[in-house]
Amino acid sequence: MNTSMQPIGLFDSGVGGTSIWKEIHTLLPNEATLYLADSKNAPYGQKSKEEILHLSIKNTELLLNQNCKLIVVACNTATTNAIKELREKYDVPFIGIEPAIKPAALQTKTHTIGILATKGTLNSVLFHKTVSSYTNLNIIEQVGHGLVQLIEEGKLGGSEIDKLLQTYLKPMMQANIDCLVLGCSHYPYLIPQIQKILPKEVKIIDSGLAVAKQTKTILEKYGMLNKTIAKQKQLFYTNAKPNALATLLGNKYTILEKDF
Ligand code: SIN
Repeated sequence: MNTSMQPIGLFDSGVGGTSIWKEIHTLLPNEATLYLADSKNAPYGQKSKEEILHLSIKNTELLLNQNCKLIVVACNTATTNAIKELREKYDVPFIGIEPAIKPAALQTKTHTIGILATKGTLNSVLFHKTVSSYTNLNIIEQVGHGLVQLIEEGKLGGSEIDKLLQTYLKPMMQANIDCLVLGCSHYPYLIPQIQKILPKEVKIIDSGLAVAKQTKTILEKYGMLNKTIAKQKQLFYTNAKPNALATLLGNKYTILEKDF
């Protein structure tokens, strides 16, 4: 069966995964996409593994019912807690997003890196397994309490965000990090704020481009890449917060409010 015209499905706990969608749409502009923002249930980062798995299955089933050929789990918390089970349960390929520790390990000179992520990601078995293979690194982990909620409200700057970031980044700067890994797909929207706080030489690393490249590689591998040059549909479904989603997408796309 020729699956190439079917959409790529993406889901996130809310609006943050659009940072991943943007990279995918830039690299693969001829692909149709369907993005699910599960903002009603955000944040996932404080939920149990069972709850995250349940929500990830719900999102996956909706995307499969809409005929998606591949699913991008555009949420670090859902990837680190549920991707193994999703791959076992369904036949379509899944692309996950994990904190980009490897590129940071390759670039660090101080051998000290910071990771800002949710509690759900930092506590996950997959994250612990990844981190344990970097015994030569001093890794400063920090939960970004409150940041996802503020981004879901459409706040990407201002004194509240600034205060939280100052608190979270200060111990990292004191430890002399030279790379900061953003381990949550919401956080790339805070890069301008983070840059104001960190010294210029600290590299900020997120996973968006790597996820887009991996999506392309897997589509090619399975003969699913859409080679037509016609413009394809970009669909966005949300179950809450349509305004925050519209703003992050530059008010350029139609957003459908759905109960899922
Ligand atoms: C969250 O819902 O808590 C954040 C999503 C992520 O980890 O990317």
